[in-house]
Amino acid sequence: MNVLVINGPSLNLLGTREPEIYGTETLEELMMWLETSPKGSDHSFKFFQSNHEGEIIDTIHDERHWAEGMLINPAAFTHYSYAIRDAISAVEIPTVEVHISDIHKREEFRQVSVMSPVCINQVSGLGKDSYLEGLKLLIKFVG
Ligand code: DQA
Repeated sequence: MNVLVINGPSLNLLGTREPEIYGTETLEELMMWLETSPKGSDHSFKFFQSNHEGEIIDTIHDERHWAEGMLINPAAFTHYSYAIRDAISAVEIPTVEVHISDIHKREEFRQVSVMSPVCINQVSGLGKDSYLEGLKLLIKFVG
């Protein structure tokens, strides 16, 4: 499967960003860990991180013919970006929403995801394992 992995705002600062919440590994380490994990090694990955809503939307559009599955951590966009949500539903790439922290146990504004209605599943609160669990769900869904 061709898997597009998208990470949103401030996830480029993983490793130093609120390590008590998001851990001490960098985004690059995390993505490499996912790609080289036993589950990941049968698949092709493209990784994209941006702090800009439009760039995330453009990437989803641009990769719509390549990607057979998508993992997205929209970061704060999770909670209010109808534009990213519409991009996901427009391209019809099976998508799993992932979060490092448990958005259901944090501030009230984080408990709403405008992405989840257009995603096949949501994995939240497992740290980096959220990405791996998301990948397993995609594999199960796409076959
Ligand atoms: C996050 C949770 C979001 O609420 C937050 O804005 C993030 C990261 C997570 O991975 O836990 O930036 O998506």
